[in-house]
Formats: sequence, structure tokens, C-alpha cells
Amino acid sequence: MTDPDVNNDDQSVPRQRRSRLRRWVVRGVAAAGVIVVAVVSVIVYLYASANIDTVGTQAFTNQVHIPPLDEGRIENGRRVFDLDFAPAVHDFGTGRPTDIWGVNGAYLGPTLRAERGESVTVNVTNSLDEDTTTHWHGMHLPAVADGGPHQPIEPGDTWSPEWDIDQPAATLWYHPHPHERTSEQIYRGLAGMFLIDDPHNQPAGLPHDYGIDDIPVIVQDKNFDDDGSLDFGTSMISPTGFLGDTIAINGTIDPYFEVTTDKVRLRILNASNARIYNLGLDGDRPFQLVGTDGGLLPRPVELDRVQISPGDRVEIVIDIDAGKRLALRSYEPELGAGVWNDRFTGGDDQFDLLELRATDTITTSEPLPQQLDTESSPDPSAAVAERVMVLTSSSTIDNKSMDMSRVDHTVAVDTSEIWTISNQGGIPHNFHIHDTQFQVLELDGAPPPPALTGRHDTVYMPPDSTVRLLVEFSDYADADTPYMYHCHITQHEDRGMMGQFTVTEAGTPPATSVPDHRSHP
Ligand code: C2O
Ligand code: CU
Ligand code: CU
Repeated sequence: MTDPDVNNDDQSVPRQRRSRLRRWVVRGVAAAGVIVVAVVSVIVYLYASANIDTVGTQAFTNQVHIPPLDEGRIENGRRVFDLDFAPAVHDFGTGRPTDIWGVNGAYLGPTLRAERGESVTVNVTNSLDEDTTTHWHGMHLPAVADGGPHQPIEPGDTWSPEWDIDQPAATLWYHPHPHERTSEQIYRGLAGMFLIDDPHNQPAGLPHDYGIDDIPVIVQDKNFDDDGSLDFGTSMISPTGFLGDTIAINGTIDPYFEVTTDKVRLRILNASNARIYNLGLDGDRPFQLVGTDGGLLPRPVELDRVQISPGDRVEIVIDIDAGKRLALRSYEPELGAGVWNDRFTGGDDQFDLLELRATDTITTSEPLPQQLDTESSPDPSAAVAERVMVLTSSSTIDNKSMDMSRVDHTVAVDTSEIWTISNQGGIPHNFHIHDTQFQVLELDGAPPPPALTGRHDTVYMPPDSTVRLLVEFSDYADADTPYMYHCHITQHEDRGMMGQFTVTEAGTPPATSVPDHRSHP
């Protein structure tokens, strides 16, 4: 017989341990359960709250701001413009003044307009307290005038690029492009349109009266804090960066435009950081697509939706009924990124953008011409080289991050090439090339849809897509100064999703590096 006490002592310890263990397991399981429930509810909350829908909720109380048209002045045969970037205060229509960075004192700069065949100079003064640059997005021009990260303007300095305008009539734009600082500078208000007219191709009947029947529509998403200040906080969960819940058109929220003609041409620019808009009209009323990034289409195309990613432009003509109101909307964009990434990149969001409010009596416009663009389209069989580039993450192209002194590609001047771009990054991207307008030959092996015909400098790339582009590099060779290609989701660009190419005289040996043209990198 064993002593029960001893026995007790022998077994009670393990028994206690066992029950303690059991208690811990039970507590652990309970805690894990609580954590799982908490995580799941956070995810459900984030998923649900990531969805924004303002359709039908807008009062359209503010008359939309139309940026002033600036045709510059003629000096020694050149058309000269002046832009000044400086802090300013702006009324978005929130009821409170907002600190912004303005161009010539305003949120969004004047609309510059020049003609094909003219020589232009733009004097850009930096009155901010950080470096900036000014890039002429969509413009064919020498690399030293391009205004990318290699042409910094230091605080207090004025930069005066000069070039000759030689490209078809188009809706281009300008915006800062400093290394790693592009998204915030655009977000604060530095951007504007640059319209090119072609005196030899002005199709009669295409609305062309700025601010009357030819309207700039710069679309941006914003977040405002309660005090009216701009909030640039970015959700950790968004793969593409900043997405705002409030739309500003030309810097006006809740906007309407009073239409006095029975046709109106909207030149729509997506100057947002990451948001992609699927444009359409109330009631799915059709419109005529007349132009894309690089200018007019050969003829109008009737559509009821057209999608624009950051950097893109479209020109549409809308039929207006006297006395009626018609909302321009963004319906859920087709991002092709899957349930999760669609939700967190704005793929389930809808917005009312702008109300077109027709006066009771309106002017009858001429019928829309059936021939618009008269340029011959470039011939793919003339391409001298093929290149492949792969979007590999949210900050790399071909697994490389932007390096100011690395030349990724060298192309020969006055040639054309085929660039095949694939998005293997798993999230939405787009692809933009400086200096040139390209033709989309194929999207995923098929001919492009109508909205991707014509000239483009930016193209949306859903995950797992591939585009084949015919790209021309003409007129300007410079072995020392590169042009950029990049994703125009600007926080991707700022994180390094950008590469550099030089255009050089035929026979120049390809260089692998260029000077970093910033004086204090
Ligand atoms: Cu609007 Cu390098 O871009
Ligand atoms: Cu550009
Ligand atoms: Cu991207």
C-alpha cells in the first residue's frame, strides 16, 4: 500500500499542470476565436466601407470652375506663356477655404492653347519651397524640354523650355514630375490642360468655343478633413494608393455646368492619382467619342461608356435637350483585378461627376462632321525593333526600380518599334510613354476596342493583360537626356515604377548610363 499523501503529492502536480494546461488551451482557443472574429469583422468592415457610391445623392450646387484660357503672347515670333507654382488658397465648394498649391494663383492652372507649327516658350517659376518640374504630358518635344525628373526647377528658379509644336490637334496636359514627389504635387493642385489646334484640320461642326460648347473637365478624387484641408492619407490596404471619396471637377465639388448649345464637347482628363473612371451618362444615353489622348479619331464612335485611367484623356460630344438636366457619371470601372483587388482599387465605386444643365432656349449646333482626323496611321511593318517590358510589382518594371542614371533602352531616332507590355504585377497598372503617341495594335491578342483605336500615350493594363504598341520616335535625338516610361498611377511611379529611354542618332552605341541632371540629388 502506498501512502495516499505521497500518492497525492506524486499525482497532484501533474494533475494541476494538466488542468492548468487545459485552462490555457481553452483560453488560447477563445482568444484565437476572438482574434479571428475581430480580424474577419475588420476585413468585412474594410471591404464594405471601401465601397463609395454617390450616384443620385448630389445636389449639384456649385457652378463648375472653368480654368481661364491662356493663349500667351507673341514675342519675336514665339508664343510665350508664364506659369508660377506657389502656395494659395482655394474654394472647392466645401464651405471652407483649402490650402493648396496653385498655378498662377489658382487650383489647377490656365488652359494653355497653341497651334501646330508654332514655336512656344513656357516660363515656369517655382515659388514653392521644394523642387518641382513641369512635364508636358502627350507632347512631342526634345528630351531637354520634356520636364521629367531630369529638369528640376529649384525654389526661386524659372525654367524656360522651348519647342516647336508639330503634332495633330489634341488635348494634352501639364503637371509636375519630380523624382518621387509627383503624386503629392499634382494632388495639391499643380496641373492644367494644354490644347493644341491644327490650322490645317479644324473639322467644321466640331464644337470649338472654349468654355461655351468646348469644355475642359479635369476629374480628380479628393479627401477633405473637417477643417476643409486636403487629406492625402492613403489606405494601407489599397494596392494602387490614394483613393478619395469626393470628386472635384476643375477643382469644384458637387458641380454643374450651364449648357447653352444643343451639342457640347467635353475634353475629359483623368488627373487623379489612382482612380479609374468608367464614364457614361444618366440613363445610359449614348455619346460620340471624338478624340483620345493624342487627338481626334478618324470618325466619331457612338458609345455609352468609356474608361479613363490616370493620365488619359477622352473627348466626347453629347446631345443636349433644352431645359433638361443630364448627369455625367462614372459607373463601376472594369478593372479586371478580381473581387478583392477590384474593391480596394475603386472597381466597385460609382460617382456623379458633373451635371449638364441646359438653359430653356439653346443654340442649335452644326451637325457633327463624320470625318475628323486626316492623319495616315503608322505602318506596323515599318517597325525596326521589338521590345518586351513587364510590369512586375507595384514599384518595378522588369524587376527594376527607377534609377535616374540608368538607361533602360536606347532607340534610334526616326524609327518606329513594337513594344509589348505585360502586366504580371497582379494589380491594376497603366503604361505611359513620354514624347510620343502610340497605336495600340493588340490587346491580349485581339484588335483593340474602339476607345483604344487612335493615338494614345497612356493605356490601362488590367492584371495579366498584354498590349502590343506601335511607337514612333521622331525628330529629336539626345544621348544624354532620357525620356520616361512608367505606370501613371502616380504613387506607383513615385515608388519607382518607371524606366528611362534615350533616343539617339542611328549608329550611336547604346549607352547604359546618363548623368543625373539634378544638381543636388
Ligand atoms: Cu503624365 Cu511621365 O507623365
Ligand atoms: Cu508624360
Ligand atoms: Cu501601377
